[in-house]
Amino acid sequence: MAQLSDRLNRLSPSATLAMSQKSGEMKAQGIDVINLSVGEPDFNTPDHIKDAAKKAVDENYSRYSPVPGYVDLRKAIVDKLQKENNLEYSVNEVLVSNGAKQCVCNAVMALVNNGDEVIVPAPYWVSYPQMVKLAGGTPVYVNAGFDQNFKMTPQQLEAAITPKTKMLILCSPSNPTGSVYSRAELQGLADVIRKHDDLYVLADEIYEHINYVGKHESIAQFEGMKERCIIVNGVSKAYAMTGWRIGYMAAPEWIIKGCNKLQGQYTSVHAR
Ligand SMILES: Cc1ncc(COP(=O)(O)O)c(C=O)c1O
Repeated sequence: MAQLSDRLNRLSPSATLAMSQKSGEMKAQGIDVINLSVGEPDFNTPDHIKDAAKKAVDENYSRYSPVPGYVDLRKAIVDKLQKENNLEYSVNEVLVSNGAKQCVCNAVMALVNNGDEVIVPAPYWVSYPQMVKLAGGTPVYVNAGFDQNFKMTPQQLEAAITPKTKMLILCSPSNPTGSVYSRAELQGLADVIRKHDDLYVLADEIYEHINYVGKHESIAQFEGMKERCIIVNGVSKAYAMTGWRIGYMAAPEWIIKGCNKLQGQYTSVHAR
């Protein structure tokens, strides 16, 4: 009998993409719809980026690229992390993927074992629990509602941690709520995380530049956190490059090596 794998049967289809498709169909019928599903910026890719891409095509940058990304691109990401986030990373601690989405999936697949728990503050981006389930892990939801500005408190985090907890997925600025954790709030969470060995933080910072509240802060800045943090970011939202599929992660080298191994089998081919 035709039967998909158990792994795939555990997975729900992307609700975001389903909503987006539905709104497209309704628009095609002439219905006035405001589509709040896919995070698509309301401006276009800046001209200097388009010009650089045209030049790159003319210069035949069209062959297999190195699995973790071109060294000069990774170097540019290292510079960005230094300049904008005051974080020191080396080129070997950076990996480029086909969008931040692949980075999140890489990190979850690289670290989460069957039966591991992953804390996901709710409301959350719908892909997180699905990726955790794909890896054989269990999402543990922590309700952070309207009354607390959709932000998880250190007390809530502490209460959710068990001996099986492997990862916290923290999205700030948040999709879907737009909430931004302040420096002090992140410090509070870091103080809890630091107490637990083998607990990692996947810091999804893809909305770093879509922030109407205050300065963006990274949880990786606090003492002892860089060793446990996987920062995920990319160009989709900041530079309106959603279709270009370029995202990156910054993490300890052993995690980057793991994700590189995974990516080497999934996507890119050539190691240069
Ligand atoms: C919270 C969050 N993380 C990651 C992504 C993926 O971004 P990318 O286009 O770089 O794959 C999105 C896209 O909507 C998002 O909302």
